[in-house]
Amino acid sequence: MWVSLLTTCLGCLLIVTSARGDERMTTTTMAPYDMDASYNNSGMRYDYGEALGLSILFYDAQRSGKLPDDNPIQWRGDSVLYDADGDYELTGGWFDAGDHVKFNFPMSYSVWVLNWGFLTFSEAYETTGQTEMMCDMIRWPLEYFLKCWRPELEILYTQIGDPALDHNTWASPENINMSRPAYQSNATCPGSDVAGDMTSALASGYLVFSELCGNETEFADALLEAAKTLYKFGMDYKGVHSDCIEEAYTSSGYRDEMSAAGAWMYKVTGEQQYLDDAEGFYDAWVPWSLDWDGKAPAANLLLYEATGKNLYREATKAFIASAMPDNIIDYTPCGLMFRNNWGTTRHASNEAFIALVAAANGINQEEYMEWALSQINYILGDNNHNISYQVGFGDNYPKHVHHRGSSCIKEVLECDINYDGENPNLLIGALAGGPGEDDDYVDDRTDYVHNEVATDYNAGFQGCLAALVQFSEEGVLPESPERVC
Ligand SMILES: *[C@@H]1O[C@H](CO)[C@@H](O)[C@H](O)[C@H]1NC(C)=O
Ligand SMILES: *[C@@H]1O[C@H](CO)[C@@H](O)[C@H](O)[C@H]1NC(C)=O
Ligand SMILES: *[C@@H]1O[C@H](CO)[C@@H](O)[C@H](O)[C@H]1NC(C)=O
Ligand SMILES: *[C@@H]1O[C@H](CO)[C@@H](O)[C@H](O)[C@H]1NC(C)=O
Ligand SMILES: *[C@@H]1O[C@H](CO)[C@@H](O)[C@H](O)[C@H]1NC(C)=O
Repeated sequence: MWVSLLTTCLGCLLIVTSARGDERMTTTTMAPYDMDASYNNSGMRYDYGEALGLSILFYDAQRSGKLPDDNPIQWRGDSVLYDADGDYELTGGWFDAGDHVKFNFPMSYSVWVLNWGFLTFSEAYETTGQTEMMCDMIRWPLEYFLKCWRPELEILYTQIGDPALDHNTWASPENINMSRPAYQSNATCPGSDVAGDMTSALASGYLVFSELCGNETEFADALLEAAKTLYKFGMDYKGVHSDCIEEAYTSSGYRDEMSAAGAWMYKVTGEQQYLDDAEGFYDAWVPWSLDWDGKAPAANLLLYEATGKNLYREATKAFIASAMPDNIIDYTPCGLMFRNNWGTTRHASNEAFIALVAAANGINQEEYMEWALSQINYILGDNNHNISYQVGFGDNYPKHVHHRGSSCIKEVLECDINYDGENPNLLIGALAGGPGEDDDYVDDRTDYVHNEVATDYNAGFQGCLAALVQFSEEGVLPESPERVC
């Protein structure tokens, strides 16, 4: 199939290699953009600055809609320009993972976790020359969120695309044309979980665009205005969105999202009511993890930042303790925290992110930095395969991630997930799901449990990279622990 379509590939440089005796085609995997985010300070095991710069580029590869002229990812083009609800257009935003659905729930979670890392460790972005790239990258989903929220109608678009239809098609985003329904939240179909996370994205976006990204006061004010009305919408119509939209990510509740949203709104406005709401949504149990569904560890730490109360400090410590070795949680033999089999690297880096933001707030600094280093170093190469689970970092990294855009060439219409050989398009900066319980890992495109990528996988991870650069710059980063394998 590949061979017969060779002639349709016009713009791409062909490298014909031999796989199982068949001829096959790939495009070049050259770096898409002349980046020098390199940062080397004594004692650093890996170049966390470079990894940080690469992670930003992963998000640029997830862009949906009409790409700007300065799009840094050469193999990407415009896509799904027909995203709309009737005549209301809804182009833009990010594709979720290796698929092409735009799920605002994980998208907005990713945005506010990225913003939190940016705000907390902004010096690292300066040091590595990445501030401008980060501002450009994070503006994209925020502009989309402004489109999705129509306060005068009380309509919040929460998702574009039906997962069943989308997941059945293996093709470049530039080539898909299936129907893509627009799902909405409204007075009769609440979604406080989605509204809460989108509020957090908009409110933290206000801080980013008023403090870090130049004089964007008009844009920042628009984000804050939308955050205020959207927060109210989430409070007025309380409910879990997946109770009404079965195609949505199944969410376990909205208290954690609304608690984080209240904390962000309080940080931005200083209005007591937001803090009272946020504290009212606090739950006393030790949360299972930080991820697209569970925000409690982040909400608790945001509440500590907002109040300095011992309650939230202890809640944060209890959560981090639950992730440390010698506790109930499993570790792989080579030292990766093993929360569960699906996307192990994202669980480890999300927990490490909480530990590093806690460290930035003066909680158990040395211990948390050391533990976070052990996890991030494992991910970048301190493991039995000497592999970096971040695509494009070093020489040995996943070459077959489960990602349609990376594995399909847009000039060639047909694409089969099962072909042999490496993905033709380098999905630079993406964090792959990672190993199983025994550090076992096979670089197999069809294995979405271990080899998919996602906007939420990179969010905490990128914050960790910024933290490690910043702590190193401040001269407080401890020596990397000995590698276990
Ligand atoms: C940092 O620089 C030192 C000395 O030049 C070198 O040995 C080390 O490999 C470098 N580390 C990284 C991560 O590039
Ligand atoms: C989508 O594109 C394919 C391939 O070009 C075409 O056969 C099909 O009819 C199109 N489907 C729709 C819904 O437009
Ligand atoms: C509210 O949202 C639901 C689910 O998206 C939709 O079916 C319904 O038509 C919407 N209600 C109105 C009044 O538009
Ligand atoms: C922001 O605007 C102020 C006042 O208009 C100006 O003095 C300053 O140089 C601007 N800063 C940047 C980073 O553009
Ligand atoms: C991994 O790297 C270590 C340290 O450089 C080396 O000792 C080991 O042989 C390598 N293992 C593999 C499987 O390449």
